[in-house]
Amino acid sequence: MTTITLVQGDITQQSVDAIVNAANSSLLGGGGVDGAIHRRGGLAILEDCRRLRASHYGKGLPTGQAVATTAGALDARWVIHTVGPVHSQSLDRSALLASCYRESLRVADELGARTVAFPAVSAGIYGWPMDDAARIAVETVRSTETAVEEVRFVLFDERAYDAFAAQVG
Ligand code: AR6
Repeated sequence: MTTITLVQGDITQQSVDAIVNAANSSLLGGGGVDGAIHRRGGLAILEDCRRLRASHYGKGLPTGQAVATTAGALDARWVIHTVGPVHSQSLDRSALLASCYRESLRVADELGARTVAFPAVSAGIYGWPMDDAARIAVETVRSTETAVEEVRFVLFDERAYDAFAAQVG
């Protein structure tokens, strides 16, 4: 049974087994939560990402997939990098956003992670409307079979927190 918890705060400060990064396909860093994780976690994360690019993902990590690295100097043991879809008005990409959560939990299971923190994937720079991002996140976690005991959504501001709280009920 997976318990969903909500926290308003910074995902890099969470003491959990794994934190999920809203990355981009390059895996080489960026802004938003990705920038914060690389800044606080240090170069060990980037080095792992570069190795993954060289060994498995020459063209980058595809949207909707997930892969793990060390968490470097962070409290967590692993960072699970996933690539959310850019929001589109004309195309329904919600299956790809759901896939980010499902694939991240699959990777967490492979690692043996029992507590996993997620940000609101795609709801920042990638432009996904927060209410819809929260609905997809919560519905997908609820419908995914996993040995993860706690999924903690870590929301950066009150608006995001309220959107997730409305879904969790
Ligand atoms: N802790 C928790 N949530 C955060 C933090 C943090 N430290 N920092 C930002 N957020 P975003 P995306 C929130 O833009 O939309 C990067 O450049 C933020 O307020 O980080 O998936 C990547 O390299 C928002 O609610 O991710 C990609 O190019 C949520 O996290 C691109 O951005 C996600 O915002 C990915 O865009």
